[in-house]
Amino acid sequence: MCGIAGYIGERENTSEILFNMLKHLEYRGYDSAGIACISDDVICISKDKGKISELEDKIHSDVVSDIGIAHTRWATHGQPSHVNAHPHTDCEEKFCVVHNGIIENHAELRDELEKKGHKFTSSTDTEVIPHLIEDFYEGDFEQAFVSAVKRLRGSFALVAVSLRDGDRILAARKESPLIIGLGDGENFIASDTPAVIHHTRNIIILDDFNYAVVLRDSVVVKDFQSGECVKKEVHRIDWDVKQAEKEGFEHFMLKEIFEEPQAVRNALKAQKDVEGIASKLAGYGRIYFVACGTAYYAALAAKYLLERFGIPSEAVLGSEFRYSTINSIDKDCAVIAVSQSGETADTLVCAKECKKKGAYLTGIVNVVGSSLTRVVDDNIHIYAGPEIAVASTKAYIGQVTSLIMLSLFIAREMNKIGEEYLREMLDNIHSVPGKMGEVLAGVDEIKKLAGEYSGKEIFFYIGRRQNYPTALEGALKIKEISYVHAEAYPAGELKHGPLALLEDGVPVIAIMPNDELLEKMESNVAEAEARNAIVLRVSEDGDFRVPVVDPLLSPLLYITPLHLFAYYISLRRGLDPDKPRNLAKSVTVE
Ligand code: F6R
Repeated sequence: MCGIAGYIGERENTSEILFNMLKHLEYRGYDSAGIACISDDVICISKDKGKISELEDKIHSDVVSDIGIAHTRWATHGQPSHVNAHPHTDCEEKFCVVHNGIIENHAELRDELEKKGHKFTSSTDTEVIPHLIEDFYEGDFEQAFVSAVKRLRGSFALVAVSLRDGDRILAARKESPLIIGLGDGENFIASDTPAVIHHTRNIIILDDFNYAVVLRDSVVVKDFQSGECVKKEVHRIDWDVKQAEKEGFEHFMLKEIFEEPQAVRNALKAQKDVEGIASKLAGYGRIYFVACGTAYYAALAAKYLLERFGIPSEAVLGSEFRYSTINSIDKDCAVIAVSQSGETADTLVCAKECKKKGAYLTGIVNVVGSSLTRVVDDNIHIYAGPEIAVASTKAYIGQVTSLIMLSLFIAREMNKIGEEYLREMLDNIHSVPGKMGEVLAGVDEIKKLAGEYSGKEIFFYIGRRQNYPTALEGALKIKEISYVHAEAYPAGELKHGPLALLEDGVPVIAIMPNDELLEKMESNVAEAEARNAIVLRVSEDGDFRVPVVDPLLSPLLYITPLHLFAYYISLRRGLDPDKPRNLAKSVTVE
């Protein structure tokens, strides 16, 4: 959802530094990009439509400069084009801004500014910001910046430079992430840590309503509402630089699928936290999950599991929760927000509103220090490490692992299961990484299957109970990276309508763990085969073969082959699985 970068220091190759920072933020948006550097009293801007890798010649110039800002865009207002690409400037090109988020009152501000004679060149919401700064400027860049920021409604992370004061970068945040990397005689600004880790491991995380004055050798953070200084903690990034590199894999997505066994092990490290949080959750009459996309499917799997233990719960999509479920939330509810990025606006706003209503709020989050982790009462980190591919894979595995563990501990606390069963299940989870390794070792078989089916334009995914979410996740993955139509259904629901779509050769992927519903699944498969559909089974002896595992853990193990399948279908269709069209990771707008 747009990536922002900024550099101020003593090095004079700012354009190159910013270009490399953008490459590490490309997962946040890739329809256009641009860089602005101050050199010899001129703001030199180079920008264009396209992916960063295609823009190297156009946006990375050799201009000598030690201060600049940059942006990679995921369009919200105004289609991807040269004029709509960031950075944007005021009428006289003295102020220059990059922005992530949505300025909700941009039309009203634009109208007001146009009446005062400001000339706009793009159709973005962002362009109002440099014009506002220009309008407020009376000799003090910081004051004009703060006055402009106070006029904005909506969500923003924004960074500005100016020829009026070429020795500082100003940055502000409300509901969109922004960090400052602290170097030695130099400082960095970015939407996320992978952009700065090659330069520094020490970061400051801006909170809502913070703005920062970033100089070469100092950073001052203030509250833009009160104007008061805010004391900030310096965080240390503790993951390895290599984790944000492809390390020999063709794509991040493939690397991340191969990290799924490790994602289980990493999530298991939080067992102590999980146990403590489960004992609190067990005291609540109602448990709700809120999440979006893939994280929602992980939450849905947990809801099925809790129900298996006789514990009622509800899993709701963030974008729906806010306008319906929220009315049922009060201090007797516990809400679990699940998010890889911890920045998804639809999930984050629900979490904030639940907190206001007095609910006990837990997060299941991957990105350490992200907004959600700072809103919740307690957090369970999944420790999956940076997930760079837009389509979530290893984080899903981490989320499902944490949620299975959490459900088991809640069930034990509520006396729905005994200690012995709990320990047996924990041992079973510990055996999953090895079994996933066996699935991954069969990658060539899956690649072959993908080759056979890559020409199909429709896929059905079916599963029952806790594997209905597995079907949803399998279908979403193929939709988003292969642009193929895929439908996911609870298997018993096929006959209530969708069966009409099954005809000769339509692939139906059936998730069939060896449990008491297997016979029911066989009947559903027979219904599909009777319509000449081609059924591909994910089972112990199926087309996608998985080792024997306790059926309650099948949502973990049975998705890995489907992640690989989606990846190879995408490749066979000549697409870039890491950067699906129209999408971006970390959706920070509602
Ligand atoms: C799908 C995918 C998205 C995200 C969703 C929530 O592969 O990645 O559906 O799962 O946008 O994102 P987080 O987990 O960051 O809240």
